Amino acid sequence: MPLQNDTLIRALLRQPTAYTPTWIMRQAGRYLPEYNATRKRAGSFLGLAKNPDFATEVTLQPLERFQLDAAILFSDILTVPDAMGLGLYFAEGEGPKFERPLRDARAIRSLAVPDMEKELGYVMAAVRQIRRALHGRVPLIGFSGSPFTLACYMVEGGGSEDFRLIKTMLYQQPELLHHLLAVNAKSVCAYLNAQIEAGAQVVMIFDTWGGVLSSAAYDEFSLRYLHAVLQDVKREHAGQRIPSIVFTKGGGLWLERIAAAGCDAVGVDWTLDLGEARRRVGNGVALQGNLDPNVLFADPVVIRREVERTLAAFGSGSGHVFNLGHGVSQYTSPEHLQVLVESVRELSPQYHENQ
Ligand code: CP3
Repeated sequence: MPLQNDTLIRALLRQPTAYTPTWIMRQAGRYLPEYNATRKRAGSFLGLAKNPDFATEVTLQPLERFQLDAAILFSDILTVPDAMGLGLYFAEGEGPKFERPLRDARAIRSLAVPDMEKELGYVMAAVRQIRRALHGRVPLIGFSGSPFTLACYMVEGGGSEDFRLIKTMLYQQPELLHHLLAVNAKSVCAYLNAQIEAGAQVVMIFDTWGGVLSSAAYDEFSLRYLHAVLQDVKREHAGQRIPSIVFTKGGGLWLERIAAAGCDAVGVDWTLDLGEARRRVGNGVALQGNLDPNVLFADPVVIRREVERTLAAFGSGSGHVFNLGHGVSQYTSPEHLQVLVESVRELSPQYHENQ
């Protein structure tokens, strides 16, 4: 099925487009009443994510409301460690947790790359089903956590405020962490390639916690493994280029290094000015971002003004994918997100004239 709207793919490859394409991190989530209704029917978040019918339904929900230029697979980055046997669960109001976090060398040394069709078949089934349901309307983005961000959850056993356990391992037993990261990199690569074979048309790697590292540790423990993953991820499938996006939250200081990791686009958070970011990366990669998600709590006039500021900061020409600098908050009004999406459509064509 040929893509009816390939604006996202073109922007990621820095080819001319008529306007700036938009999608929103966490576009299918708790800020949408229809998501909450489906989640209730499924019983839980994992009940949604592990059932391809429900996953397809919620993936399409934001596309029914907003003129978005991409769908993103409804799943989670923590499906991979779950498939490695750590036992993912969600304690009400506490976020993700693992029943069996990695707390000693024996647990880490016995980890293996999960079997993609056996252990993660429900994800591939969802990808195939979402592609069928999309009928080529917009591309489908597949995703994974980065090797380091997955390791954070695997070692801490859930979210963390100080990353004390993984950082202790990083400084005290670096070879052990390197072993874990090497297994994660192989798993992430196999996971992304399986999603591409099932029908994902873009892939994104979420390095949500890379930004908590020192500059030297970021190179050694996160970037090196992003590089390894990108080297082995398919760049083409069924005759189509599969663009890749890397997002290190808090990675602004290391933008040039991230841009050189082998991805087509770099996701940036709101701490950067997009124009400066563009000058720093030159013509090597596209940029995705970077409106502060909290802008959506302000009035429509403010949202529109901040959208305009973001578009103007990037400036004229292709290579910008509009997004937030991190996921949309559950407290956001869908009407305000609508203002964002409409503002980008209305204000961005002027930045794409004469190309
Ligand atoms: O973007 C999308 O719409 C696609 C779906 C998606 C989810 N998680 C669904 C989800 C994606 C791409 C993710 C990635 C993810 N998951 C990341 C990286 C991106 C980021 O936000 O930095 C991380 C760190 C996770 C781990 C995770 N999963 C956390 C910390 C939480 C709890 C946070 C929260 O909002 O409660 C989840 C659960 C989760 N994953 C939800 C959704 C919609 C909320 C679950 C619910 O319905 O209760």
